[in-house]
Amino acid sequence: MITYKSDEQVEQMRQSALLVSKTLSEVAKILKPGITTMYLDKMIGDFIKDHKAIPSFLNYHGYPYNSCLSVNDVVVHGFPNKKELKEGDIISVDIGVILDGWHGDHAYTFAIGDPGPEVMQLIHVTKESLYKGIEKAVSGNRIGDIAFAIQEYTEKMYGYGVVRELVGHGLGRSLHEDPQVPNYGKRGSGVKMKEGMVLAIEPMINLGKKEVYTEDDGWTVRTKDGKPSVHFEHDVCVRKGKADILSNYKPIEEAERNNNNLMTEIMKVNKEPALSNS
Ligand code: MF3
Ligand code: CO
Repeated sequence: MITYKSDEQVEQMRQSALLVSKTLSEVAKILKPGITTMYLDKMIGDFIKDHKAIPSFLNYHGYPYNSCLSVNDVVVHGFPNKKELKEGDIISVDIGVILDGWHGDHAYTFAIGDPGPEVMQLIHVTKESLYKGIEKAVSGNRIGDIAFAIQEYTEKMYGYGVVRELVGHGLGRSLHEDPQVPNYGKRGSGVKMKEGMVLAIEPMINLGKKEVYTEDDGWTVRTKDGKPSVHFEHDVCVRKGKADILSNYKPIEEAERNNNNLMTEIMKVNKEPALSNS
């Protein structure tokens, strides 16, 4: 069943989405080589609870952590662990909260230092594809229009693999509501969108082939070919003419830029030859 949100409810959902954005910004500030995903997950849980909200992923169908932290070839639903992140890794940080009964659910993929031009392009193009999908999230269009826009851009234009097994979704008082929002499909197919529909749109795009598998832990999804995968997710309200993006990448991108500048400075200093007094 699809639920349509009143203007007042959309404003409440914006607060939930923005709390996730704020949490993602906190992550962006502290990401660096040497940090563990377990440390990040703890910080994420504490930050959410400090803001009078609940980490919604924890115990969802038995999911055992606050967040999904998916490194390199992990597509989504990666478990936090004690391994240190290293220079050149990429990490999808996916966070959900319940604030005053309303869900926020969004994600961002960060690079730790420089993963190289091929992977940087994958990150860039996946983020762009999310906005291409969002452009189609207007009343009168169909879900397939979002799906087609994302697939066309990532698969047709760049030859990336679009994950089929996992999809975006409606969002509201529940984490997963109707309709499903695939990242592949036919233009003009699927449910017709109406104002007040809130969708989590989340392209999961592989550098190599589209095939994925789930590990024995029942959650961790990886690419079959072992190549990296990127995931971005926004919460969006369908409107006439132009979708309203409830979550916000601006503060995350700003924190990311500041952190990158800092990391570059530190690396420069480390590379400078030690002073000698001979
Ligand atoms: N953004 C993901 C989703 O929409 C996160 C769910 S992870 C889970 O499905 F742990 F909550 F299942
Ligand atoms: Co989601």
